[in-house]
Amino acid sequence: PETPRPRTPIMGWSSWNNFRANISEEIIKAQADAMVATGMHEAGYTHINIDDGFFGGRDENGLLLSHPGRFPNGMKALSDYIHSKGLKAGIYSDAGINTCASYWDNDTIGSGMGLYGHEWSDLNLMLKEWNYDFIKIDWCGGDWMGLDEETRYTLLGNMIRNIRPDVVYNICRWEFPGKWAIQVADSWRISGDISNTFESVMHIVDLNADLWRCSGPGHVNDMDMLQVGRGMTYEEDKTHFSMWCMLNSPLLAGNDLTKMSDETLSILTNKELIAINQDPLVYQARRLEDLGDLELWARPLTSTMSGKVAVALLNRSDQPQIMELDLRKVAIDSSEGYVIRDCWKHETSSKSTQPTKTYEIPAHGVVVLKITGTNPPFNIFQFEKGGK
Ligand code: DGJ
Repeated sequence: PETPRPRTPIMGWSSWNNFRANISEEIIKAQADAMVATGMHEAGYTHINIDDGFFGGRDENGLLLSHPGRFPNGMKALSDYIHSKGLKAGIYSDAGINTCASYWDNDTIGSGMGLYGHEWSDLNLMLKEWNYDFIKIDWCGGDWMGLDEETRYTLLGNMIRNIRPDVVYNICRWEFPGKWAIQVADSWRISGDISNTFESVMHIVDLNADLWRCSGPGHVNDMDMLQVGRGMTYEEDKTHFSMWCMLNSPLLAGNDLTKMSDETLSILTNKELIAINQDPLVYQARRLEDLGDLELWARPLTSTMSGKVAVALLNRSDQPQIMELDLRKVAIDSSEGYVIRDCWKHETSSKSTQPTKTYEIPAHGVVVLKITGTNPPFNIFQFEKGGK
């Protein structure tokens, strides 16, 4: 059935990676301002998602309060501000009694901030009264209480759909929750928390490699918020962003948008990479070849027979490597001729009929190509479709 929610992965910014629970109204507003001023919004980013840390206890009737010192004007005034910039607002809770930060981040947030026992009133407050367009529901409290994930997330999902069918719903478990999640949520985490290291990024890529069948229009694997601009090298950041685009992850920047370098901005706003992430077929890239340090990833664009394929050549080693691309392996019939666009160099090759091409890939680097040619009459993407 048609839904009023986006069919492609959402794009935006989230507070957690950079600010953890130390967020405030000023911080969030400044990020919304920067999203517009930097051109991120123009490049496709819309969501300003507030993660853990805005809670301020409950009143005597159990009504959820926002932190009086850090969010003095309340969460509704903040979503109004975000909306006034033409952006969408996102919020956070937990399926159980406590949110994660109450366990290990900041004692002052206190316990009892999760949805347990307040399901309907909290969801109604956050999505209707406060008018947030996205909600991420964490699992620390659910885990601690020993709740059943499928039952719990399904119940909450039904309530969310009931309250506002256009709200985007994200399940935050620290592993793939199970196939049931495809019917229940718009996206679900598949890993523990990302860190700003190449190892962490590659670990999440590996966890997602076999989950491509679960990804499709309106339901995608969430590889966690981006660490672009938060300490990795330029090549590593490019590789990270490329793989999140290739594998249909939501693109939620996690850096401080008010202080990013031109390099960071150029990665986050690479239109050719974003177009792959936002391709309407929503077909998660598959690892078609694994040569140890070198890997071939590919996904069809637009349709499985359009003759358009996005390819990533990934080099996990800390030395530059040469890799040969065999066009047959990515379902291009080279004898019919093809053209290759390099999505980082922004160069288009002249038409070729060569069966293979050779690339040099930087250490911890990636080459991302968009190939336009002709598919053979039957191809690998067609036989086993991604998503549903
Ligand atoms: C755990 C989640 O995995 C993180 O993304 C973040 O939401 C924190 N909890 C917040 O406490």
